[in-house]
Amino acid sequence: MALLTLVHVARARAWTTAVVGSVNVDVIARVGMIPREGDTVVTRTASTTTAMGGKGANQAIAASRMTCEDGGRDWRGVGFVGRFGADAAGDATREAMAREVDLEYSARSAIGSATGLGFVMVANDGGTSAVVVPGANALDWNDDDAALEDEFRDALRGTATLMLQREIPHRVNVIAAKIGREMGAHTIVLDAGGSHEVVDGDLLALVDYVAPNESELAGMAGVDVDTLSSEEAVIEAARKVTGTSAVKVLCTLGARGSLLVSASGVARGAPSRLPDGAREVDATAAGDAFRAAFAVAMGEGKNETQALRFAGAAGALAVTKMGAMPSLPTRREVDALLGEESRCADRASTSTSSTIEDELAAQHFASRLNSMKSRLDLFLDRNESAPEVFNLVKRMGRARGISHVFFNYPEHFITKTGEEIEPEILRRKVLEQSLRIGAVCVRFPEEPYRLGAFTNPDPAVRRLAEGLVRRSCETAVALDANEVIIWPRYDGYDYYLQADYASAWDVMVQSYKIVASSAECASLKVSVEFKPTDEKSRFSFIPSTGAALLLVDAVGEPNFGLTIDVGHALAAGENPAQSIVMTASRGRLFGVQLGDGHSRLGAEDGLMFGSVHTNAALEIVSALRAHGYAGFLYFDTFPLNEDPVEEASRNVRTFRDFHKKVAASASALADAAARRDALRAADAFA
Ligand SMILES: *[C@@H]1O[C@H](CO)[C@@H](O)[C@H](O)[C@H]1NC(C)=O
Ligand SMILES: *[C@@H]1O[C@H](CO)[C@@H](O)[C@H](O)[C@H]1NC(C)=O
Ligand SMILES: *[C@@H]1O[C@H](CO)[C@@H](O)[C@H](O)[C@H]1NC(C)=O
Repeated sequence: MALLTLVHVARARAWTTAVVGSVNVDVIARVGMIPREGDTVVTRTASTTTAMGGKGANQAIAASRMTCEDGGRDWRGVGFVGRFGADAAGDATREAMAREVDLEYSARSAIGSATGLGFVMVANDGGTSAVVVPGANALDWNDDDAALEDEFRDALRGTATLMLQREIPHRVNVIAAKIGREMGAHTIVLDAGGSHEVVDGDLLALVDYVAPNESELAGMAGVDVDTLSSEEAVIEAARKVTGTSAVKVLCTLGARGSLLVSASGVARGAPSRLPDGAREVDATAAGDAFRAAFAVAMGEGKNETQALRFAGAAGALAVTKMGAMPSLPTRREVDALLGEESRCADRASTSTSSTIEDELAAQHFASRLNSMKSRLDLFLDRNESAPEVFNLVKRMGRARGISHVFFNYPEHFITKTGEEIEPEILRRKVLEQSLRIGAVCVRFPEEPYRLGAFTNPDPAVRRLAEGLVRRSCETAVALDANEVIIWPRYDGYDYYLQADYASAWDVMVQSYKIVASSAECASLKVSVEFKPTDEKSRFSFIPSTGAALLLVDAVGEPNFGLTIDVGHALAAGENPAQSIVMTASRGRLFGVQLGDGHSRLGAEDGLMFGSVHTNAALEIVSALRAHGYAGFLYFDTFPLNEDPVEEASRNVRTFRDFHKKVAASASALADAAARRDALRAADAFA
């Protein structure tokens, strides 16, 4: 079986650390005793817990948290090349990992494999036992060596360090190591990966470090672990493993620290002290933290002695917290434990407490898909024969920090030649880009809705409009999106004396009620995005946030609320933050669309967020934060002359910068508002 080879253009920036390896979902059961053959045991808790695992995934995230650079969701510094299953577990692990590492070269299974699964039993006495079903980790690598080499050549171009573990096929590790070296990696670390088997000479010859813990070392050297109590015995076992190769053995010894054994000598990593007041809680992922830290330090040009010290601190920190992912430390924590002036001082001082990091990590950003039609001259790998929407999604996948895509219905589900595009196909295109689907936006076509959709004087047209919204909901469900946003573009009029406002309002309320409570939409959040004026209807029947809130009340369905578009609020002469707060405090703020404009009469410019009304934008971010807004942050912008990928990335950065600013000044801002003191407010960011 030969899998499709993904074709990529060269990335602008190479990864500093690359991890080629496994990702699993671990299902953890707590039991009294580990069952022996023939036993059946019942778990101590009624249900299992699940966690993301796999040494590859753990080490990629550990490396990302400890690498000193951009950080956060703009992160391109650490890349993971792995295989996610074509199942819900695959989508969930992928989404979680995408927040911390670059997944451009990590495909979702194209052959329907399941995500790697670990069944872990944890006994009362802390002992564990596990069964691993590799799934996509084993099955989904291209069978054709030459094609796999090409893929790795793209992925690993310019990477400084490469980390491998033995949880994917040996053949894949050999190819990754060979190509990694060819593409410039100066440090290749192979985790012994739970296996006690001897590492084949072909792989040993390709890596710089092989990294076992004590029991793995014993297994690999063919000695009993109890014989490794002295340093001399560890060194002797390590020399057995290296044989005549130049590989070095990086052995972790738990509380005894670590040893680095090479043909020419031995370097010792002293045990790291724990942070003040911390205690040992759980050793899970401590080895992953140690090895990732070692690789990151080597990638930064530290020498081995320094790298051992850095890694020791990372391992010690991981022991102080429960679980795998939650216990992987950040760079700031490692530097602090080492008492070092952090090279990452800037990042540490701007990104503040962990609650703000948590807030930033919880944000989901999307950007207008059609903005990706701008500056096609800069879009090098556009596929002329593919439906345009595929290209738009692909381009969106390059925007840093964007996590979700919104589709217009029906616009994005029909090709130029009028053929329908299956939602499932679009869904896969989105996942291929490591993106997820956020919402479906209803776009009424001009015909037959020229004189209104839900306010059309002809009841037959209103029924058609309701049908269109219900099909949007069906499509949203098929896409795993849980939101539909209605922009009532044609529900308005142009002239005085033209319309009957009371009856237009009444029929509109009826239609919103019908769709919100319909079987297709009832499980979704349905929101209306009011716009006061548009070239298609100079006056809207919903001219303001106030009118939109009246509509929400009149409709009275719990799943019906508002999406506030900042550009529209500005065009209505409103203060967007005020509109947001009035809506959020009624529990009806389902979405926000962010942009900016010169707000000349009737114009919605769709400029970059915060580029014109900077203080208004800061206030918007502050209001969203104060109300704990957890919905999507969607940039509804219209770049004309800018590269839309850079423009979307820029909007995310602006929002995040503003978020940090308002978080750092929250008490000063609250104080100013409590006194309604404009001078204090003006000083709040000083
Ligand atoms: C060594 O690592 C393996 C695999 O991660 C683990 O099962 C084992 O408990 C570890 N041994 C020690 C002594 O930490
Ligand atoms: C490693 O670097 C440190 C700090 O620059 C230095 O003090 C030490 O001598 C170096 N060790 C080796 C073995 O090069
Ligand atoms: C371009 O798109 C067509 C139609 O979707 C597809 O068959 C073809 O493989 C694509 N080519 C590339 C280079 O992606």
